[in-house]
Amino acid sequence: MPGKTTTSHKQQRPAKQAVSTRDQGTAWHSRVSAGEHILEVDDLGISLAETGRPVVQDVNLNLMAGEILGLVGESGSGKTTVGLALLGHVRRGLVHSGGEVYLYASHSDQPVEMMTLDEASKRSLRGARVSYIPQDPALSLDPGMRVGKQIREVLDVHDYGSADHDRDQRVRSVLREVGLPDDDSYQRRWPHQLSGGQQQRIGIAMAFVMYPDV
Ligand SMILES: Nc1ncnc2c1ncn2[C@@H]1O[C@H](COP(=O)(O)OP(=O)(O)OP(=O)(O)O)[C@@H](O)[C@H]1O
Ligand SMILES: [Mg+2]
Repeated sequence: MPGKTTTSHKQQRPAKQAVSTRDQGTAWHSRVSAGEHILEVDDLGISLAETGRPVVQDVNLNLMAGEILGLVGESGSGKTTVGLALLGHVRRGLVHSGGEVYLYASHSDQPVEMMTLDEASKRSLRGARVSYIPQDPALSLDPGMRVGKQIREVLDVHDYGSADHDRDQRVRSVLREVGLPDDDSYQRRWPHQLSGGQQQRIGIAMAFVMYPDV
C-alpha cells in the first residue's frame, strides 16, 4: 500500500436538519449533505495473524459526502483488505493491528469506530449506512435464490419502510437505477440466468438499495 494519502482531524458534525417522514423512501435516504465529513481512516494496520507481518499499515484517508475516492495498487497490495475494514470486517487469517475507522453515519450524531464496534451494531450498519460491492458477483450472489428476493432480503434485514408495498417498490426502483428490468419475471430469475454484467448490477443494486452513506 502507498503511505499516507491525507492527514485528518476528527470533527463534530453540526446538527442535522429534520427530514420529512411522509415518504418512506425519502426518510431512508442518506441525510448527509455533500461536503460533509463521512469517513475517516487513521493509521489503519492489518496484519497476518500467524506471523504479524503487516498486510497494510499506516493507511490514512478522509472521505467527504459526494466524493469519489479511488484506491490504486497492484494485485495483492491490500485494496480489498482496506475496503472490508470500512465495514469493520477483517478476513480470517488477518488481524486488526492498529488504527481506527470512523464512520460519520446519517441517522446518528456521533461517529462510530468500526473496528471496535460490537457485532450487532456492525450488522445494522453494514448494507444500510456503509455498503460493499463484491469483486466477484458470481461468487457473492446466492445461486439458490431468485435475484429479486436477494435484493428484497437486504430490505428485510434492515426493516426498510413500513409495509410490504414499500419494499416491493424499492426493489423495483433500485433495479431501474442499475439499468435492469424491474418486472416480476426478471425478479424471478436465478443468478445463473443473468450475464456476468447483469449479475454485477444485482450486486450493485443490493449495495445501493438502502441508500447508504458510503
Ligand atoms: N486471510 C488471509 N490470509 C493470509 N493472507 C491474506 C489473507 N487475506 C489476504 N491476504 C493477503 O493480503 C494481501 C492483500 O490482499 P487483498 O485482497 O487486500 O489485495 P487486493 O489489493 O484487493 O488485490 P486484487 O487487486 O487482486 O483484488 C494479499 O497479498 C493476500 O495474499
Ligand atoms: Mg481486491
